[in-house]
Amino acid sequence: MTEESTNVVVVGLQWGDEGKGKVVDALSERFDIVVRYQGGANAGHTVIANGKKFILQLVPTGILWKDTVGVIGPGVVVNPEALTRELEALEAAGIKVGNRLLVSDRAHLIMPYHRSHEVAAEQVRGGARIGTTAKGIGPTYEDKSARRGLRACDLRNPEAFLRKCKEVLAEKDRIASALFEGTPFGGDEWIGQYLETARQLIPRLVDVSEYLNTEMDRGKRVLFEGAQGTLLDIDHGTYPYVTSSSATAGGASTGTGVGPTRIGAVLGVSKAYTTRVGSGPFPTEIHGREGEELRTRGSEFGAVTGRPRRCGWFDVPAARYGARLNNLNAMIITKLDILDTLEEIPVGVEYEYEGRKLTSFPADIDILSQVKVHYRTLPGWKQPTYGLQDFSELPQKAKDYLRFLSDQVGVEIAMISTGPERGQAIWRDESRFANLSASR
Ligand code: GDP
Ligand code: IMO
Ligand code: MG
Repeated sequence: MTEESTNVVVVGLQWGDEGKGKVVDALSERFDIVVRYQGGANAGHTVIANGKKFILQLVPTGILWKDTVGVIGPGVVVNPEALTRELEALEAAGIKVGNRLLVSDRAHLIMPYHRSHEVAAEQVRGGARIGTTAKGIGPTYEDKSARRGLRACDLRNPEAFLRKCKEVLAEKDRIASALFEGTPFGGDEWIGQYLETARQLIPRLVDVSEYLNTEMDRGKRVLFEGAQGTLLDIDHGTYPYVTSSSATAGGASTGTGVGPTRIGAVLGVSKAYTTRVGSGPFPTEIHGREGEELRTRGSEFGAVTGRPRRCGWFDVPAARYGARLNNLNAMIITKLDILDTLEEIPVGVEYEYEGRKLTSFPADIDILSQVKVHYRTLPGWKQPTYGLQDFSELPQKAKDYLRFLSDQVGVEIAMISTGPERGQAIWRDESRFANLSASR
């Protein structure tokens, strides 16, 4: 194993759902520890292993491999009830988690009032709603930044937890009743039940930074599993249509307490086309029947919410932006097989705004919503690539398509996914990350 592939970040290059779960699962056999660094149960990472489907939300995907330790880092927000349910479902499906899952004692807790706050906020926004996953993610990060969050370490002292929780509720009620009539957050009868469930996490709580750095000193290999995607990042994404955490590779450092120079490489996952769930600008979106056909062929429905995903073509300016933000070492292209039947495949290669070519990805979403996209249309290969595992078996036109994406973005492609099942993937022998391919 080379130094750069010892500790690796897997990050989504688009608006999420790029197939990170599939990719992280494929890589996990080569790693000792898989750590989530941001987000929460808004993620839905799908793995199909031996015909069995798993959708991981908060638990790191590596947990499906029996010798891998899963870690939830301090940058993640945790809903104890959702985590308990997810663990029960995994055990019921035959995955023995036991003590292989550790949780940061600095992770912030999602409380019931965060979810009610989110529902109310989305209602108030009306047509301008973000289209969140309604898991309470945004309001929990709001309270974290406002320094009124409750953290996993607070569970160890129930009296202090109760006191802090009541203080927060009183503050929220004061603010709410100053603005509106009534006390929407009133009542604290649920706290006892919450605490009882949440305290089941105590045996799993650790100082994640200390744990990871010590294990790395011992030569253990760590995979940092990104959730959401670059364009949903709070700082760099299509704000305000973003999630509330640092989904880019930088989050892997702040969200775990592992210094950036200890991380060897960053792999960016992208579909061979683009999708987005929820509201917000989407320059290469395909409207009408063609978009619907791609949605049907790609089964593009949200893993968490079941919402139909908006579909579009591969977006080179966005991918270049992601390559820079994450300083990508390589890309992984998923769902190539979904394009198998197309006569021709447009690729968005340039944005134009008010008659001028844009040289960088705009900060202003009003501009992004109005850009004119220039396309290059490549011929389709019209042959099945589903399940292929050998690059030489790919039709020449599929190879040309992949080469075009790689040249345009300026990043090599290390792996191509050709189906949802574990093992349906092509590793490029010439990639310096080929040593990450599993032994299967
Ligand atoms: P994630 O959130 O990035 O892990 O992605 P999701 O799991 O939300 O969505 C990706 C979907 O595509 C899932 O249903 C996967 O099973 C499926 N998938 C992943 N890779 C491939 C692939 O190469 N081909 C096909 N046909 N499906 C894939
Ligand atoms: P994975 O990890 C796709 C989207 C929501 C919404 C916006 C904000 O499976 O790729 P939030 O609930 O996070 O406040 O919602 O972000 N979103 C995702 N879209 N995949 C995800 O996760 C997402 N997590 C959040 O649809 O537009
Ligand atoms: Mg997903």
